[in-house]
Amino acid sequence: MELNGKVAIVTGGAVRLGRAMALALAERGAQLVVHYNASAGPAEEVVRQIEAEGGTAVAVQADLSQARTAPSIVEAATARFGRVDILVNSAAIFEPGSWDSTTEENWDRHFDVNLKSPFFLIQAFARQIGDGQRGHIVNIADWRGVRPGVDHVAYTLTKAALIAMTRSMALALAPDIQINAIAPGMILPPPGKGPEFLQRSAARIPLQRIGSPGEIVKAMLFLLDSDFVTGELIYVTGGESL
Ligand SMILES: NC(=O)c1ccc[n+]([C@@H]2O[C@H](COP(=O)([O-])OP(=O)(O)OC[C@H]3O[C@@H](n4cnc5c(N)ncnc54)[C@H](OP(=O)(O)O)[C@@H]3O)[C@@H](O)[C@H]2O)c1
Repeated sequence: MELNGKVAIVTGGAVRLGRAMALALAERGAQLVVHYNASAGPAEEVVRQIEAEGGTAVAVQADLSQARTAPSIVEAATARFGRVDILVNSAAIFEPGSWDSTTEENWDRHFDVNLKSPFFLIQAFARQIGDGQRGHIVNIADWRGVRPGVDHVAYTLTKAALIAMTRSMALALAPDIQINAIAPGMILPPPGKGPEFLQRSAARIPLQRIGSPGEIVKAMLFLLDSDFVTGELIYVTGGESL
């Protein structure tokens, strides 16, 4: 897909990986809807940065723990730009929980933000794709969704389901919409983790380092550039997923 002039939504686009993907899309000429929940300041900063570089962007707030608000992001985008061509589902929560400590509240919050909202965003996105228009969706999953461990139970199950949803929706939405997923490994450590954590993480990764947001951006751009890839999952883990 030629990105120049297309309209793209990036959920969680104000910070970290979402921010990197939003800026990269704008650099390729896409008009951006930078979704945020609590990061209003950083979202406005991303918009200013895009505008300063000659691009077009708008920040849209929505709390995705209330899945019924998810379609409002697509509505805001179509109200502003008339259509949406690209949806990147990046917003997620990542909270601990073992088989024993996982509460119903922890379970529900993960499923609402990480799975239910992406589904209803995809539904709203697909419904507004017009005749002759192409759509492209990228879901940001996690390799743990394919090789679950014993911690972060609810998180891991949402990512497993997001990968299954990517495959199912690829069949359902073809030929007008392609939908793929990326499974990042250790790219940006959780806030507050210091150099020791990074060293320990790098040591267990075959390529002996953690990744960078630029590597997720490259995978996203590959998927968006491709007209013949759908329902795929790209691992960007430095071999950790092996
Ligand atoms: N970082 C990694 O190394 C890594 C590894 C594997 C997978 N991933 C996946 O990559 C994606 C991005 O990860 P990240 O580390 O950059 O994210 P992050 O720092 O955990 O940021 C989470 C994002 O989700 C948004 N969010 C959280 N709760 C929300 C809610 N209730 N409603 C709406 N938005 C909400 C936040 O928006 P606000 O800040 O505006 O509230 C923020 O933009 C996630 O899907 C994550 O699972 C990341």
